[in-house]
Amino acid sequence: MGFLTHNNYLLIFLLIFCGFNSGVRSVNDTITSTRIIRDPATITSNNGNFKLGFFSPENSTHRYVAIWYLTQSYTIWIANRDQPLNDSSGVFRIHKDGNLVVVNAQNSVIWSTNVSTSATNTSAQLDNSGNLILRDVTSEITIWDSFTHPAHAAVPSMKIGANRITGKKIEYVSWKSNSDPSTGYFTGSLERLDAPEVFFWYNKTKPYWRTGPWNGRVFLGSPRMLTEYLYGWNFVPNDNGTAYLTYNFENPSMFGILTITSHGTLKLVEFMNKTKFLELEVDQNECDFYGKCGPFGSCDNSTLPICSCLKGFEASNVEEWNNKIWTNGCVRNEPLNCGILKNGSDVVQPDGFSVYHNMKVPDFAERSVGNQDKCRADCLANCSCLAYAYDSYIGCMYWSTDLIDLQKFPYGGVDLFIRVPAQLLAIKKRREYKGLIIGIIGAIGALIIAVSAYLLWRKFTPKQKGHQTQNLTTRDPKQIKLEELPLFEFEKLASATNNFHLSNMLGKGGFGPVYKGQLDNGQEIAVKRLSKASGQGLEEFMNEVVVISKLQHRNLVKLLGCCVEQDEQILVYEFMPNKSLDSFLFDPLQRKVLDWKKRFNIIEGIARGILYLHRDSRLRIIHRDLKASNILLDDEMNPKISDFGLARIVRGGDDDEANTKRVVGTYGYMPPEYAMEGIFSEKSDVYSFGVLLLEIVSGRRNTSFYSNEQTLSLVGYAWKLWNEGNIMSIIDPEIQDPIFEKSMLRCIHIGLLCVQELTKERPTISTVVLMIISEITHLPPPRQVAFVQKQYCQSSESSQKSQFSSNNNVTISEIQGR
Ligand SMILES: *[C@@H]1O[C@H](CO)[C@@H](O)[C@H](O)[C@H]1NC(C)=O
Ligand SMILES: *[C@@H]1O[C@H](CO)[C@@H](O)[C@H](O)[C@H]1NC(C)=O
Ligand SMILES: *[C@@H]1O[C@H](CO)[C@@H](O)[C@H](O)[C@H]1NC(C)=O
Ligand SMILES: *[C@@H]1O[C@H](CO)[C@@H](O)[C@H](O)[C@H]1NC(C)=O
Ligand SMILES: *[C@@H]1O[C@H](CO)[C@@H](O)[C@H](O)[C@H]1NC(C)=O
Ligand SMILES: *[C@@H]1O[C@H](CO)[C@@H](O)[C@H](O)[C@H]1NC(C)=O
Ligand SMILES: *[C@@H]1O[C@H](CO)[C@@H](O)[C@H](O)[C@H]1NC(C)=O
Ligand SMILES: *[C@@H]1O[C@H](CO)[C@@H](O)[C@H](O)[C@H]1NC(C)=O
Ligand SMILES: *[C@@H]1O[C@H](CO)[C@@H](O)[C@H](O)[C@H]1NC(C)=O
Ligand SMILES: *[C@@H]1O[C@H](CO)[C@@H](O)[C@H](O)[C@H]1NC(C)=O
Ligand SMILES: *[C@@H]1O[C@H](CO)[C@@H](O)[C@H](O)[C@H]1NC(C)=O
Repeated sequence: MGFLTHNNYLLIFLLIFCGFNSGVRSVNDTITSTRIIRDPATITSNNGNFKLGFFSPENSTHRYVAIWYLTQSYTIWIANRDQPLNDSSGVFRIHKDGNLVVVNAQNSVIWSTNVSTSATNTSAQLDNSGNLILRDVTSEITIWDSFTHPAHAAVPSMKIGANRITGKKIEYVSWKSNSDPSTGYFTGSLERLDAPEVFFWYNKTKPYWRTGPWNGRVFLGSPRMLTEYLYGWNFVPNDNGTAYLTYNFENPSMFGILTITSHGTLKLVEFMNKTKFLELEVDQNECDFYGKCGPFGSCDNSTLPICSCLKGFEASNVEEWNNKIWTNGCVRNEPLNCGILKNGSDVVQPDGFSVYHNMKVPDFAERSVGNQDKCRADCLANCSCLAYAYDSYIGCMYWSTDLIDLQKFPYGGVDLFIRVPAQLLAIKKRREYKGLIIGIIGAIGALIIAVSAYLLWRKFTPKQKGHQTQNLTTRDPKQIKLEELPLFEFEKLASATNNFHLSNMLGKGGFGPVYKGQLDNGQEIAVKRLSKASGQGLEEFMNEVVVISKLQHRNLVKLLGCCVEQDEQILVYEFMPNKSLDSFLFDPLQRKVLDWKKRFNIIEGIARGILYLHRDSRLRIIHRDLKASNILLDDEMNPKISDFGLARIVRGGDDDEANTKRVVGTYGYMPPEYAMEGIFSEKSDVYSFGVLLLEIVSGRRNTSFYSNEQTLSLVGYAWKLWNEGNIMSIIDPEIQDPIFEKSMLRCIHIGLLCVQELTKERPTISTVVLMIISEITHLPPPRQVAFVQKQYCQSSESSQKSQFSSNNNVTISEIQGR
């Protein structure tokens, strides 16, 4: 043995020497017909980073031809992994047929690159990226290379890919064990080329684990894959029919090796200046096993049992399911309505969606471009669509086959919308609602009593400022324990708003000015300070605190805290950089900013905000003062409903109506039954929403018409145009666009339905939302709308002239006496 080895060295030395002398291009990184590698010789890439030669894995005596980075611990490629040499007699060389081969002591070929080529004079070079390239010497055409015939590892500029046309994949196969590099059980490849993701297969055929679609930044189904893994990843959708993922480092001092391990995990080792600085292995939990919970089952490793059926589904085999055999999954227990729309009633109940947050999307996504609304509408329109999801990079994803491999993550993932029959959603909500109400009555009861007691006390106490009042007001909010609503110090707010400086004033609300402020930590806030003059403001103040501190919705402005000190009552809100809707909508210059897409988004947002107030929040709230100036816009022009000073918490059944002696609200947004008789219900908000909707589409104030010679409000005007068949002329000229005409028309139609004279003819806000998002395709024709006639205006005008003759946009605290 020793002799042999010695001999080999000598031979190689001679070969190199000869090559050099004969002037032949012969460098250390190349194998030629005359330059062979005899165990244990190696060749080295020009940059010295990679070596090719014979090696033995730990605890093994077998010899393999391999390429490694720096040391043999970091092998990136193996030639004869399934044909090991029993001794160190192996030779790696160019065969006479031009292929690279491994031959044993008996000089028989045990491994070959096995390409049929006419080129007989070839050479192989180990390049600076670690790729072994076999070329035809004369033409320099690449015949074969190790990067497209990978083993278990990927390094920068290698591809994980597949050809769309031929279906040929570049696969990575794990070792059998840590000491046995032969073809193992796990294979990694790129799948689902439309929304590509990496699959790990077990035994080549059984899906074992999948990363979820690559969205250009992360794998949607692998939130635990840290950004370290994903740095430098890139997807090439089509390179002559081949789609592939690669990863590269911009920094040339960086290097990384991705490995599929013998136990089916993904491992990443990264190097900086040839020093290992990172070694990560994606940890897996039970839920990561493909299809753990079967079709329509969802896995969550933080719950017990980990598997559950999606809404509208039940275990296909209850006995199995209870015995933790989940693979047969779930079956639908409530048929979908799709395709069997009920006729005659305007409350068609089609299907809806049940949303699951932080989800790993199921396998077999179909993909299309579009926004969230389009995804939803498209899915709803196709009865075979069972679910959809939206990702801002990928667009829409749809599923029309059994939903398999769903998982709920504690973070990351996407919102997954599962199609369910609408009645299921309705039932669910009502049940939840009932349960909640019982709880709320208990929890809120005490609170209401406390507030009422205080107000009563205040009412019967002569107005006095000073210690007594201060004490009570200071204590009150603390006593009622406003769900950890922070209390701000007056001084802090004063300094945040530059002592309530005029230049910080954003506007004047119904009960006092609103200032812009900035807290010490840089956070911008809006500070609403009750004017001391407004004697009745405190009730509304407390009301607002109580109401809004319990609400959380992305279409409601967020209350950050309050301050009750001395005789100051201050509310602190998140700051909305874009002010209120009316400042855009009714401004001849700014209205251009609001194109139809934005306006539609605003309409939908407001409707969802109201829906939350009416149905989905833990309280049932009627806002009573919806108007353009109470709709704030965030930096992305998303609407947020604000000003809950007049909101009422109601309880009881669906058709609840309440009666009040104090009619509060804003002129032009109030339905007649409320303005005239003081009756309010959820349908009052629907009316106000209808007015808002018409204002948004037309770009005109409902009330602006009074100044004209026209006797009609915007509502009345719209109704007139509708009947004349000329409704399109109401559309704001700024947004006229034939593409969106249908959508605008639909909104006007919905608006008119919302302002029906008879409350029972107005849809509920949940129906309105369904109408807006096109889940209800057939809208009933509007009937008589409730436009407040001149005659009525005058009567109220006479009583409260000063309040709205100047600016119709001011909240009226009382328009009728008693
Ligand atoms: C080949 O490598 C040896 C040592 O590793 C070195 O001395 C020699 O200069 C190299 N030859 C070429 C052509 O790079
Ligand atoms: C290695 O040895 C085993 C058994 O000793 C034999 O079956 C196998 O063919 C040998 N492999 C090679 C490449 O010589
Ligand atoms: C070499 O390729 C031929 C077909 O091109 C195939 O039949 C044969 O099995 C291959 N041999 C090896 C060792 O892969
Ligand atoms: C292969 O090509 C090289 C360079 O052109 C030449 O030196 C060598 O003789 C050729 N070998 C054979 C077997 O043709
Ligand atoms: C090699 O064997 C030793 C002792 O049995 C063991 O501790 C070690 O984990 C083995 N290494 C590998 C890579 O299997
Ligand atoms: C792997 O698949 C083969 C058939 O393709 C089968 O015979 C073998 O039992 C499978 N192995 C395991 C561990 O499932
Ligand atoms: C793709 O195909 C075209 C024509 O078939 C060819 O010119 C081009 O070099 C190919 N590109 C790659 C990267 O193979
Ligand atoms: C790596 O090497 C480069 C060039 O020699 C140097 O600029 C850089 O600071 C080094 N990085 C680290 C982390 O050592
Ligand atoms: C769920 O999986 C995560 C990630 O693998 C793990 O950290 C966590 O401990 C698991 N939780 C349970 C309850 O098994
Ligand atoms: C639906 O109702 C209309 C009239 O209300 C009727 O003409 C039509 O035939 C009905 N369609 C179905 C499918 O029942
Ligand atoms: C509905 O979806 C299925 C599955 O994606 C598709 O094959 C079919 O063409 C779609 N139908 C329509 C009308 O778009």
